[in-house]
Amino acid sequence: MSSDIPDRDEPCERAYETVELGVLVVGAGAAGARTAIELVERGVDPEDVLVIGKRSHGDAHTTWARGGINGALGTHDPEDDWTVHAADTLREGHFLNDPEKVQTVTRRMPPALRELDDWGMAYSRTADGGIDQRYFGAQSFRRTAFAGDHTGESLLETLIGRARELSVPYRENVFVTRLLADDAGERLLGAAGFDTDTGEFVLFEADVVVLAAGGYTSLYERHSSRDDENTGDGPALAYQAGARLMDVEFVQFHPTGMVGDRYGEDWDGRLVTEAVRGEGGRLFNAEGERFMERYSPDQMELDARDVVARAIDREVREGRGTEHGGVYLDISHRDRDFIRERLPRMYERFADLGVDMAEEPVEVAPTAHYGMGGILVDGTGETDVDGLYAIGETMAGVHGANRLGGNSLAETVAFGAVTGEAIADRLLSGASDGVDRSRLHDLARIHFEDLRGLADTDGTHDPEALFDGLRGLLWEHAGILRDGEGLSAGLDALADLRMRASDLEVGGPTSRSFEFAMNLGFALDVAEAILRGAAARTESRGAHARTDHPETDPEWRRNLIVDRDSVGAMRLATRPVDDPSEAVQAALDAGYELDYHQLE
Ligand code: FUM
Repeated sequence: MSSDIPDRDEPCERAYETVELGVLVVGAGAAGARTAIELVERGVDPEDVLVIGKRSHGDAHTTWARGGINGALGTHDPEDDWTVHAADTLREGHFLNDPEKVQTVTRRMPPALRELDDWGMAYSRTADGGIDQRYFGAQSFRRTAFAGDHTGESLLETLIGRARELSVPYRENVFVTRLLADDAGERLLGAAGFDTDTGEFVLFEADVVVLAAGGYTSLYERHSSRDDENTGDGPALAYQAGARLMDVEFVQFHPTGMVGDRYGEDWDGRLVTEAVRGEGGRLFNAEGERFMERYSPDQMELDARDVVARAIDREVREGRGTEHGGVYLDISHRDRDFIRERLPRMYERFADLGVDMAEEPVEVAPTAHYGMGGILVDGTGETDVDGLYAIGETMAGVHGANRLGGNSLAETVAFGAVTGEAIADRLLSGASDGVDRSRLHDLARIHFEDLRGLADTDGTHDPEALFDGLRGLLWEHAGILRDGEGLSAGLDALADLRMRASDLEVGGPTSRSFEFAMNLGFALDVAEAILRGAAARTESRGAHARTDHPETDPEWRRNLIVDRDSVGAMRLATRPVDDPSEAVQAALDAGYELDYHQLE
């Protein structure tokens, strides 16, 4: 033990800060904010809640969500209701979704959208002042509410405003590195991490921890997030603490990411919102052909993301792409004023790059955008570990094999309220009292000693370079198209990478390399779960496309569960999926579906 790590009898404050509280929310995006709001609205003392984020306050991945948030308000299409929303979600999730969770989200969204309106959300409006709604892919009706093409920014601003009114405390620049549970791994005791500014260690002694820490698609070479977010820490923290993961092999590739060879590497993979297609944007290959007519004559550019992404990928692979490796997305048939009003951020971004969207197309190609899998939770968001909850992209269950655009922001606010309510009930009823925390500081000291060792490691490999290697590996072996041979080669390459990751060169506790070293530890576990899950699932379903098993196998209508066995090795199991309620089944039987040609 290094000299500044205290013995059990020494005061803990000497080597690390201790924060005692009822609920720690890890993640300061929409899911975390909405949970905290519900907690306080339900009577939990704000002083007993803390929301922490890795960056400055207000700068979360939610702000990168663009095109909209779903809820069956029926602004334009009165036939729409929550059962049709649920039916669309299940159909496009290829019936791997948890029907109860889908029902929770879709039922709650119409009032949730109105609640956001009451809290000041800057929705785009209809002529008579209603909440406007646009088409989004594979949805039967116009149900995606929006604020131009900056819906995530407006949503987070609204939630932060409401949280401020309720005096919810936030803390910036904290990186959680370990969840600490009792020896049996059954009861959560707290969370440990460090301040990224100062390198100081911090221990949160919390009754409940909520992981609202995003997903794992930055583990892919082309991704729509920033490089240091969605790196898999949420799911990995839970897995390492004894919780189970589910359906991690399902990774959504958004059809329209920016093309780095055309716009510069910094822009590679960044989102060109689905709203461009929702507002009428058309896809063309380099031969000028509107190729979606061949792949999906009824739903065209607004078919489900997996269908459109695979179509673009195929056009490029078969030599009909642009010289930069993409296809064209064109909305220049719309008026300039219309584009500016409905898609202001896209218009400005491309204008800055010297491209006038009102006159010419932009170049796009698929990019890793959303992990449908994540932590297995019950109907309130609680994991297998007592006191540990997960919500938003960190949890699994709502989206099945493929997510509808606009359902991720919906999930954050719907489940934020559900999870916040469940935790408030638990705390206010005293159900979390009397936990034996005598081991917590011992566990923290051991972990901090490990962290200190890692921060000063003077080995061979640069963590960031290994992280980039991992991104290339997943893109190549577990990307848009997969097969058994490639997945097996990917697992071999991952084992080799794991070996190199045990010999890192790290530049101290406030260095970028220390954060990458931590991220690498999380990423290796999540990558293994993706590769193992994708290898085990011998069928194609939604975003999981196996060239050696191209059909959907009804026997595989099962969730794939990942956990650790008693010696810490990864273990896989499956379980069947429940059936939808009668109301949702009736909507499925009615056979609603999007008719693209209504847009033209
Ligand atoms: O394309 C988009 O605006 C993305 C929305 C989403 O993923 O929900």
